[in-house]
Amino acid sequence: GITRRYKFDIKMQNVTRLCQTKSIVTVNGQLPGPTIIAREGDRVIVNVVNHVQYNVSIHWHGIRQLRSGWADGPAYITQCPIQTGQSYVYNFTVTGQRGTLFWHAHISWLRVTVHGAIVILPKRGVPYPFPQPYKEVPIIFGEWWKADTERIISQAQQTGGAPNISDAYTINGLQGPLYNCSAKDTLKLKVKPGKTYLLRLINAALNDELFFSIANHNLTVVEADAVYVKPFKTNTVLITPGQTTNVLLKTKKHHPNATFLMAARPYATGPASFDNSTTAGILEYHNPSNKTRKIKNFPLLRPLLPLFNDTTFATKFVNKIRSLANSKFPAKVPQTVDRHFFFTIGLGLSPCTNQNQTCQGPNNTMLAASVNNVSFVMPSTALLQAHFFNKSKGVYTTDFPTNPPFKFNYTGTPPTNIIVTSSTKLAVLPFNTKVELVMQDTSIIGAESHPLHLHGFNFFVVGQGFGNYNPNTDPAKFNLVDPAERNTVGVPSGGWVAIRFLADNPGVWFMHCHLEVHTSWGLKMAWIVMDGKRQNQKLPPPPSDLPQC
Ligand code: C2O
Ligand code: CU
Repeated sequence: GITRRYKFDIKMQNVTRLCQTKSIVTVNGQLPGPTIIAREGDRVIVNVVNHVQYNVSIHWHGIRQLRSGWADGPAYITQCPIQTGQSYVYNFTVTGQRGTLFWHAHISWLRVTVHGAIVILPKRGVPYPFPQPYKEVPIIFGEWWKADTERIISQAQQTGGAPNISDAYTINGLQGPLYNCSAKDTLKLKVKPGKTYLLRLINAALNDELFFSIANHNLTVVEADAVYVKPFKTNTVLITPGQTTNVLLKTKKHHPNATFLMAARPYATGPASFDNSTTAGILEYHNPSNKTRKIKNFPLLRPLLPLFNDTTFATKFVNKIRSLANSKFPAKVPQTVDRHFFFTIGLGLSPCTNQNQTCQGPNNTMLAASVNNVSFVMPSTALLQAHFFNKSKGVYTTDFPTNPPFKFNYTGTPPTNIIVTSSTKLAVLPFNTKVELVMQDTSIIGAESHPLHLHGFNFFVVGQGFGNYNPNTDPAKFNLVDPAERNTVGVPSGGWVAIRFLADNPGVWFMHCHLEVHTSWGLKMAWIVMDGKRQNQKLPPPPSDLPQC
């Protein structure tokens, strides 16, 4: 592989959306930020320079970071933040992956405008396992707030209430014609008839799973989270924050100069209020042989998207995603398990700590979220440094519970004790442990699905279901042949999901809900994967410019 160098200047930029101008944090003044392009096997070096008043850090979401955990990026997990005026050089090699991923800020809510695509091409001369596309286009979904999102989340955390929802969704930073005064802020995707396009879909939205569809066109799903899947046709794609999906779009052969809407709007099951608006872009046919006979006023066709709570569609879609699992791209599913974990995932409440006011959660509490009833408290120094230099004392403990502290019917009446405990607990895994993890949505404050993301690994989604996970009967139904291999999975609302992964990457690895509001409330934890015995199974020391707290 070769080395690809990028410079990311974190700086403020004035942007006008929904008739209002606002100063936002960007990379190089762009929204979305620059696309990182590499081939499998290449080294990527990104010099990130912080010119803004906020602390920042950048995460390369889905990049495995094999023995390069210092470059992973989540603030206070693998590094201290890059402070104002400081810089940090992220240096990693793309190993054994090709497809679409993305990068984003990994501190507070800065991800809202600090994100961009990562395109990993196959090694030179290696074809895709599907028809070679005529063109490839990143399509990044995001959210737009009129107000300052850093202020929104810090206020919500002080008062214990729910933060405001967004004012619009966006496609490549543009919200599209269905919002007020937004016609000029519309993505136009110009296509030629009879060609195949590869759309690299990325959900970078903070808090919403999305349905995406293009009027009168089918999409063929060929990849999810930078892993090839068995191709299947669909008219709508479901994509959670943190997920990426590659789809082939075949344009119609003999087509006039027509236009079609492509649109995205949320899939939501929770009781919480959410932004139920629709972002849209325009697919514009340009028929070179049809220049003279331009068809006027061709109607702009709208796609039919599922209803916001269409769990039937969502479940069917998710179940269609299967690893390609052929001899070229085998699915290396762990067939046996060394350690089994059962985690409850969900919302809860924590005692009011606001000295000056009452808290805005129910009965003067603060809204919280937890894993096995532990609401994760961010440390004030980086966990990976504390682990590597044996300075865990006062930073974290290694007694993360392998099971929830109490048992109840997760889909029935909530228990009376829904107060979470708050601490910084980690779970330790010896090198090469084969892990099975069942995550059960608790439905405590309403059933809501949670897109869980694991850093440092891909995992296999071996099973999922609704209701309570049954350890006696469910494992017999696990798919150990061609399960989806990904880095972010939706724990279904009122249900469970079972994943397996091989802990072959030493370091400290964050795992959290990719709905930013749930992460802020504590739906996060971290794994320590110990070094192996051999030299090439150990995490090397940190680079000299690693930021200090
Ligand atoms: Cu996409 Cu921990 O993040
Ligand atoms: Cu969540």
